[in-house]
Amino acid sequence: MRIVPHHVCALLALLLASVFPPAFGQSAPATPPSLRNLGAQHSIPIGVSIDTDALETDKDYRALVSREFSMVTPENIMKFEEIHPERDQYNFEPVDALMTFAAEHGMVVHGHVLVWHQQLPDWLLNGNFDRDTLKSILREHIHTVVGRYRGRIAIWDVASEVLDEKGTLLDTFWSRGIGPDYLELAFNWAHEADPSAQLVYNEYGAEGLGAKSNGVLQLVTSLRNKGVPIDGVGLQMHATLDDAPAPKDVTSNIRRLARQGLEVHISEMDVAIEKPVTRRKLARQARIYADMLRVCLAGKPCRSFTVWGASDRYSWVPEHFPGLDAALLFDRKFRPKPAYRALLEVLRERP
Ligand code: G3I
Repeated sequence: MRIVPHHVCALLALLLASVFPPAFGQSAPATPPSLRNLGAQHSIPIGVSIDTDALETDKDYRALVSREFSMVTPENIMKFEEIHPERDQYNFEPVDALMTFAAEHGMVVHGHVLVWHQQLPDWLLNGNFDRDTLKSILREHIHTVVGRYRGRIAIWDVASEVLDEKGTLLDTFWSRGIGPDYLELAFNWAHEADPSAQLVYNEYGAEGLGAKSNGVLQLVTSLRNKGVPIDGVGLQMHATLDDAPAPKDVTSNIRRLARQGLEVHISEMDVAIEKPVTRRKLARQARIYADMLRVCLAGKPCRSFTVWGASDRYSWVPEHFPGLDAALLFDRKFRPKPAYRALLEVLRERP
């Protein structure tokens, strides 16, 4: 009997599978729906902040993150105190490990954060550096960190939370030490270090319309008008059941940022619930998440949607706000909550 070459058999099988019902061909097993694969249909990464200790020690956490998300933001390990603990010492090991995990799982990396007034190391806070020295320290920090991952980090939070509730510049370690031009310096140095990265200003409490979001618009518009390489704004979206921005206001805010040529990222969403956590409160939480994802999907300049944690087991909320809990999409046993199902439903809506 003449042996039919393997590749001819394969082609024949494909032909049969395409013209006959599945009984003849092996129809590909349906991949279960996830935020990641449904998000891909809308060309929008669904991201998550990463607790790297959990990533290292909790296999269920690793499985959840890689199954559900296509973008990762390090929750803490890229912050000044962690990545640059001494003036002549950088700690890249945990970041390199996260980069490896992201690459292995085809994930986009959102770098967080180069300039922030929190989580600064003592050598910096207590160094009493003059302006020129502090500028050179910040320039070296940005060039060293951004340069190390050049071409591998798609988005950088260059600066976070530099405005007060009135929308005016906060008096911080950086503004006092360098002056108000520290922001444009930081963005320019980040662009020098990696011209391919999208550079973002990241803020909380400025998602809807009001004095603070007016201040963000004015700040980023003035920077862009000076030729500062700033590409986008991160709207963090840290909400509670009683304090969530109105979807229509977020839509208006995204549109006016877009008119200035800025792209928008929902960068740190969580919706904290005042204990006791009830089914009714979880249903309200689900509506808030769904409303904001729908706004992001409708507002084309919205480029990504990130939740600030994968599971209530590792959320920052209870530690920082003892009366609040259950802010995320999966509970402490990694079971999906109504908010997760609500996001899947939104993603199933036609792109
Ligand atoms: O690393 C030390 C550890 O050595 C020490 O033993 C331990 C003692 O509690 O503290 C550890 O530092 C903690 C750090 O997270 C790293 O785990 C700090 O106490 C803790 O306050 C810090 O919280 C982070 C918080 O930023 C700091 O303000 C949260 O995990 C993080 O989710 C949160 O994230 C910020 C974003 O970066 C910016 N937007 C707001 C958001 C919420 O504040």
